[in-house]
Amino acid sequence: MKSSRFRVAALAAALLAVTQVHPALAAPGDPGEPRYSAGASSLDDPYFPDQGNGGYDVQDYDVTFAYDPATKIMNATTVITALATQDMDQFNLDFQGPEITSLKVGKHPADFTRSGQELVVTPRPKVKSGQTFTVTVSYEGTPPVITDPDGSIEGWVPTDDGVFVPGEPQGAPSWMPVNDSPADKATFTFRATVPEGITVVGNGRLLSQTTEDAKTTFVWRSAEPMATYLATVTLGNFVVTESTTPSGIPVYTAVDPRLVTQSATAVARIPDILEYFSTIFGPYPFNQAGAIIDRAPNVGYALESQTKPIFSSAPSVSTMAHELAHQWYGDSVTLSKWSDIWLNEGFATYATWLWTEHSGGATAQATFNSSSNYGRAATSSFWQILLADPGPEDMFSNIPYNRGAMTLHALRGKIGDTAFFKLIKDWAADHQYGNATTADFIKAAEKISGQNLTSFFDVWLFQKGKPTTW
Ligand code: TRP
Ligand code: ZN
Repeated sequence: MKSSRFRVAALAAALLAVTQVHPALAAPGDPGEPRYSAGASSLDDPYFPDQGNGGYDVQDYDVTFAYDPATKIMNATTVITALATQDMDQFNLDFQGPEITSLKVGKHPADFTRSGQELVVTPRPKVKSGQTFTVTVSYEGTPPVITDPDGSIEGWVPTDDGVFVPGEPQGAPSWMPVNDSPADKATFTFRATVPEGITVVGNGRLLSQTTEDAKTTFVWRSAEPMATYLATVTLGNFVVTESTTPSGIPVYTAVDPRLVTQSATAVARIPDILEYFSTIFGPYPFNQAGAIIDRAPNVGYALESQTKPIFSSAPSVSTMAHELAHQWYGDSVTLSKWSDIWLNEGFATYATWLWTEHSGGATAQATFNSSSNYGRAATSSFWQILLADPGPEDMFSNIPYNRGAMTLHALRGKIGDTAFFKLIKDWAADHQYGNATTADFIKAAEKISGQNLTSFFDVWLFQKGKPTTW
């Protein structure tokens, strides 16, 4: 970093020497002079235009906090390590959290302003393209609950014994400053200190758990890249169980003591589900698996937080299978824009159909035919939402889930089992830890099958109405 700055300075001096007539005119954009500008404040996702920012690529988040459920006060410092992709005199982060008490870029305090979820930072010295820089943000107070376009809640949701922390699609900025785009994955470390007796469950592996002065600190490390919306640090009273699957995947489950009995069947099937999915989707993508089963009745949904899905009540086996399938489809291979939500939900739902068949229940074909799926009347309003672009209010409606799964089952019929199962396995391998789009999927399906699938995908994805021929 230092040597390249010296080179630029030397070049600028040389240029000045040959342009003696206009000695003071070295301007941004001149050869040898960096053109500093503001990183984009949006990545233009039409569903969540405030999400994400340009000008840099986050590599790592290191989030240290103390939290007491009794006072609901968080005292936090988040260190973001990012790589600049342009010369920047300003950049944005997404943050909805409490009052910022200090903000530094590198070692230098930086000016900032806040407006909605935009945290606008003015780094001095400015940041050069190619530079790795850190942003250290300290903040104190109570993180907010975020309300989604469909009325559901996420972010920092207090429970009667702690906090339930779901982040999809826009909850992460509630409690940490982030580049809140599903396309900017990074590694994460969470260092959380809570009153002794409370358990904090984060993504990835538990590096340490130490108790001192009636407080316990949990350090969780997500070593594989993760999208911000998949982060969690759910905390409360939990019964923790650690085990290993037959193929060696460590499993950490945390269950609210009141839900242990009701959850037992779903928890017991975790190893079987992971082993089955590994055979059809390829190796489990992370170095840790598990589940967090909490009591958060006002949330009412489960979420595929990376390595440890979170459940707001005791899950059924099929809900467990759905969230575990997301570890391949959604978490390891992540959508790039939210209108492609069927790539997450359709895949996880179809995986559940396959699990149901595998475990002795209805066949995938029978589920396809059922009255909640293809058996719906053509006049049903179900068919009137576009799968390729359901809109922010319907992104978690049954369209991406059920029509998405039907699309995959219909595709399997169209291209045959061999091509279909190769397609979904390759999809997981080719985009592991990355992002993908519907266009990428269509291309892969055509390549593997050798068929032109334009009219197939047109009917299932890009047209409203109940498909009749494909
Ligand atoms: N992705 C979750 C799942 O399928 C569901 C989900 C996440 C959700 N965020 C939501 C549902 C917000 C409703 C509202 O398991
Ligand atoms: Zn899902």
